[in-house]
Amino acid sequence: MNDNRFLNAAAIQKSLGFLPHPGLLLATSASGVSNVMTIGWATFGVLWSRPVCLVMVRYTRYTYKLIEEAGAFTVNVPSPDMERVMDFCGSHSGRDVDKIRELGLAASPAKMVPGIILDDCALTYECRVVGQYDTLPKMLAEDVITSHYTGGAKEANYHRLYVGEIVHLRKKRQWQNTSTI
Ligand SMILES: Cc1cc2nc3c(=O)[nH]c(=O)nc-3n(C[C@H](O)[C@H](O)[C@H](O)COP(=O)(O)O)c2cc1C
Repeated sequence: MNDNRFLNAAAIQKSLGFLPHPGLLLATSASGVSNVMTIGWATFGVLWSRPVCLVMVRYTRYTYKLIEEAGAFTVNVPSPDMERVMDFCGSHSGRDVDKIRELGLAASPAKMVPGIILDDCALTYECRVVGQYDTLPKMLAEDVITSHYTGGAKEANYHRLYVGEIVHLRKKRQWQNTSTI
């Protein structure tokens, strides 16, 4: 469903109260490969007079490679029965396993960006990358570095922050009467 009523900050903010899980599913496609990873952080709002979704992806993720190539991504809001999908996509890399096939996830082509939408998710935001920023250590508070970028695999594994312009929103039929959006 394409309903531009939802492409404004107030409606996006309202939709956050609708999220059944704290996490979201970030889907990317490039060179004929599609992949899904769990994300815990996403911020919705308005930048440059456009509705945007900001996501943070560490350089080591397979998703990072795909997003760089595609210049686009989709953010999928899981429905309440997708807990196993969230766990699997947050603990396996697309480099090692085709997560979509392994989980039997139904996916369709996105409408406005190169990529896929996850059919069983309640909502999908289609995003075109319009900005990207590296979380350079010199730009971060010391306690942020300590809490998120030191020790083990985190060492030097910083995030790239992607600003995605939301160009399409699809709401799954069974969620269309939900009053919170
Ligand atoms: C609840 C949860 C939230 C996560 N949030 C993020 C995130 O915001 N950014 C990130 O780079 N990785 C995040 N991860 C880690 C990735 O989902 C995980 O490393 C995944 O296996 C990467 O898949 P990929 O290599 O196929 O891209 C999160 C994991 C979990 C379980």
